[in-house]
Amino acid sequence: MKTTRISIRFLLVLALVAASVLRPVAAQECGIASAHALATKAGCEILSSGGNAFDAAVAVAAALAVVEPFASGIGGGGFFLLHRASDHFEVFVDARETAPTRATREFFVDENGQAKQKVSLEGPTAAGIPGEPAALDWVAGRYGKLPLARSLAPAIRLAERGFPADARYASASALREALLKKNAEAATSFLDNGKAVAPGFVVIQPQLARTLRMLADQGGRAFYRGDFARKLAQTVKSAGGLWELSDLENYRVIERPPVKFTYRGARITTAPLPSSGGLVLAQSLFILESVNLAGLSATDRVHYAVEAMRRGYHDRARYMGDPDFFAVPVAKLASRDYAQRRGASIDPAHATPSSDLLQGAGAADEGGDTTHFSIIDADGNRVAATLSVNGPFGSGFVAGDTGVLLNNHMDDFVLVPGVPNLYKLVGSRANAIEPGKRPLSSMSPTFVEDDRGVLVLGTPGGSRIISMVLEGILDYVDQPQTDLARLVAAPRFHHQYLPDRIEIEPGGFPDPWVDAMKAKGHVVEVGRRKWGNMQAVFADKKTGRIETASDPRGQSGVLF
Ligand code: DON
Repeated sequence: MKTTRISIRFLLVLALVAASVLRPVAAQECGIASAHALATKAGCEILSSGGNAFDAAVAVAAALAVVEPFASGIGGGGFFLLHRASDHFEVFVDARETAPTRATREFFVDENGQAKQKVSLEGPTAAGIPGEPAALDWVAGRYGKLPLARSLAPAIRLAERGFPADARYASASALREALLKKNAEAATSFLDNGKAVAPGFVVIQPQLARTLRMLADQGGRAFYRGDFARKLAQTVKSAGGLWELSDLENYRVIERPPVKFTYRGARITTAPLPSSGGLVLAQSLFILESVNLAGLSATDRVHYAVEAMRRGYHDRARYMGDPDFFAVPVAKLASRDYAQRRGASIDPAHATPSSDLLQGAGAADEGGDTTHFSIIDADGNRVAATLSVNGPFGSGFVAGDTGVLLNNHMDDFVLVPGVPNLYKLVGSRANAIEPGKRPLSSMSPTFVEDDRGVLVLGTPGGSRIISMVLEGILDYVDQPQTDLARLVAAPRFHHQYLPDRIEIEPGGFPDPWVDAMKAKGHVVEVGRRKWGNMQAVFADKKTGRIETASDPRGQSGVLF
């Protein structure tokens, strides 16, 4: 008896050791950080069945489309920043939505020159042509090792069998209950008998499952061509939207070189236009590099960071838009000299009023939604992906029986110069609506690499994405120890040129901090809620360890 017990225990230990050695990335230690445990699990499943980081990215993105439909989905778009370990190839896969051909400025602006924001925010008129289905196919086909169908399988399962709504889902559905009720398909897909769902309610999406299965069987093309596309365009059109079949047929993913620069020796690889993220980060970090931050008090460091952001976001407003439609002075905006000349106007003791830079106005906002995930696989391939339907549940419009919830990214265009959008961002004709054009984004999937290791990070948060990523980079580069949990949890401050104020998270900064900023002439406004849902993965070059961290805000139910 005794011998048997010992040998069973021995076999058990042996089995456990073998499992940990043979399985390159076990589920719980897999190098994926995403906004939802079920999406992370989907990615880990793909890694452990022989997929690489790119296959896992397809699985995570598709799973997020199911379990976080308020944030991203196949009716939306986004960006995938990729690093291939075998040859260090890096590329930015731009799957941003495009404006339909029939989208004109006149459609979104009334006779008195006022922006018709409902038209750009709600219902089918708000939707750009989605990029995510094309991107899933593109990333799987070009960079993955597994068939698309394999990587989509976990998402299909989740859509078919359902998943329990978590606190974030419940609060998103409460926030958008009125909008979702206006569209019968959206109400059926996302509400509980026409009401916001309670946590634990099982969300089942059979129609979305069918569409995902179509992508798995026929590839991304099936979304953009043939019967499905014809029906999709027709459904949008008959509900008053602007889509034509040809808009879908003409949609293309674009591969772009990422924005690359160094900050105090760390190599930053990040988002190029049509995201403003990379150029705003480059300008802000070049300005900060010319300042001896280590010799400053904590509040003086923030003063410089805020002034750097103010200048970076100012250039976002006046120069940036889709580079295929507008001649953005990219070389200038990416240059150290230019940034440092702009930085020279920073007064160490006083805020620079934004009105000294350019006239403009602020206005009211509501929230938005988006998702980010980061991946490093055992071979060192990396993915940083930020995906979005824009506002929570996007346009609130589900296209017929496709299960596809459409984005409201038309609102990321500038409808009227100087008039703020959902995120209080102003802009110029660089980002005006034109058929086929991509709206300017702030989404900033980013890699940071130095002697210590490689950090993959990003977050949702509308216009605040760039300031959050900036603060994440400053934490990583300027703090002596890497601490991912600290990095994703740190209290956030934000300045975006207009409105001219530092916005801070509630509870994040003590009164003396606020007083010190006010003493320099800054207006400090406490936000109504915390923001962001940062997802970070770090590969330590010395130990080889891969660590992940998810923002505690997302874990605790904060929506965006
Ligand atoms: O592309 C952009 O910048 C926005 N549509 C992102 C929206 C977003 O992050 C909303 N999440 N909170």
